[in-house]
Amino acid sequence: MLEIVILAAGKGTRMCSAKPKVLHTLAGKAFVSHVIDRAHELEADGIKVVIGHGAEQVEKQLAEPGIEFVEQTEQLGTGHAVQQVLPRLHAEATVLILYGDVPLIKTNTLKRLITKVSETSMGLLTIELANPAGYGRIVREDGEVTAIVEQKDATKEQMQITEINTGVMAVKGAHLQQWLPALSNENAQGEYYLTDIVAMARSNDVLVETVQAASESEVMGVNNRVQQAELERFYQRGIAHDLMIAGATLLDPARIDCRGVLTTGSDCVIDVNCIFEGEVSLGDNVHIGANCHLKDTSIGDNTQIFSNTYIEESQLGEDCLVGPFARLRPGSVLAQKAKIGNFVETKKAYIGKGSKVNHLTYVGDAELGENVNIGAGAITCNYDGANKHKTIIGDGVFIGSNTALVAPVTLAKGTTIAAGSTITSSSQENQLVVARTKQRNIDGWRRPVKK
Ligand code: UD1
Ligand code: CA
Repeated sequence: MLEIVILAAGKGTRMCSAKPKVLHTLAGKAFVSHVIDRAHELEADGIKVVIGHGAEQVEKQLAEPGIEFVEQTEQLGTGHAVQQVLPRLHAEATVLILYGDVPLIKTNTLKRLITKVSETSMGLLTIELANPAGYGRIVREDGEVTAIVEQKDATKEQMQITEINTGVMAVKGAHLQQWLPALSNENAQGEYYLTDIVAMARSNDVLVETVQAASESEVMGVNNRVQQAELERFYQRGIAHDLMIAGATLLDPARIDCRGVLTTGSDCVIDVNCIFEGEVSLGDNVHIGANCHLKDTSIGDNTQIFSNTYIEESQLGEDCLVGPFARLRPGSVLAQKAKIGNFVETKKAYIGKGSKVNHLTYVGDAELGENVNIGAGAITCNYDGANKHKTIIGDGVFIGSNTALVAPVTLAKGTTIAAGSTITSSSQENQLVVARTKQRNIDGWRRPVKK
């Protein structure tokens, strides 16, 4: 049985923020949510989050089945924080303690740590740091861990120790029940230190087995916005690396941001400054131009997105061309070989195979058949001020420039709309529809003169 405790009660004073620290984000997701993801990957039998500062806000944002919140009303130390959940922990469980502000901890590391827990041993995650300042130091005698001493309580010699406490540990529930009530706050900070259980383990002949973290970033806690930015870059470099290893070309791996999951087919090329949010999948040979922002979208093989395009919750087929400067809003679906040009906005729109919407157009709540051509400046007037209405455009329809299609309206196959028309009623197949005042040419016109 595995129970996970996530400490998330701290204020995070150095973030200088009205928002509790653990809700600040890395790759668009709250620090503590990254930690919760790891807990899920470990298939924990229970996840208990200790909240304090901004408790209401944290709970509201994180609430989901399987997560229990325990409030620590006063932050009297990490040991005190774990004491709050003690009544809810099972003696026979392995209890893994994580920090809500250490977002990049790796599941594999935690798996290694958990294996160290038994009736006679506990696991402690440590790391060697060239600069151990600020951390609790791991004190060993004849190689065995005997205590953790906090920086503020350390002697001059102990300050020289470079093996530090990451804060992550795994302990039998029964041991926590035995040791936590015995913690005292007689130390430099007047806090109940969780780390003091290590010396208790030692005096109860429970072996403290250490596991070394794979990297410093993995165990780095975020205290301020500089560290947040550092971790973000570290994380993004890792994602860029993985994308390239999987076969994508990134024109500059330092200038891509992935806030979610991006999957790429073979031979995709991504130009600089692109942002991918949520779940984005690119087929084979997809090209994304500079400064594009894609969110929860799938893109078919050989499709090209030109620079400065924003796409949300849309599905693009194969061999499409989109942008530059296009905006595809939720529910845009492009069939094969569709083309969306510059300054075009689509929303809840199906664009049929080979259809073109090349310039300066709004297509919303619309269905376009195959090989439709929409001229520059044409728009669907889908909203009457209260309700939305649909525009249906059949195969091969040609819509002249600067046309207003007042929905609901249906244009049958092969319709041609004269430029500048305002269309309020439906057409029959292959009709030419002209809906504008007739041109008059007046000879000898005199322009007004100034009085
Ligand atoms: C702690 C460790 C230190 C270790 C370091 C690693 C102790 C006594 N010290 O020190 O050995 O090197 O982490 O980063 O454990 N928290 C609560 N309630 C509290 C106090 C803290 O929930 O009353 C939470 C914080 O929100 C944070 C975590 O516990 O997520 C760590 O607290 P923090 O104050 O940062 O501990 P450190 O002093 O850095
Ligand atoms: Ca800390």
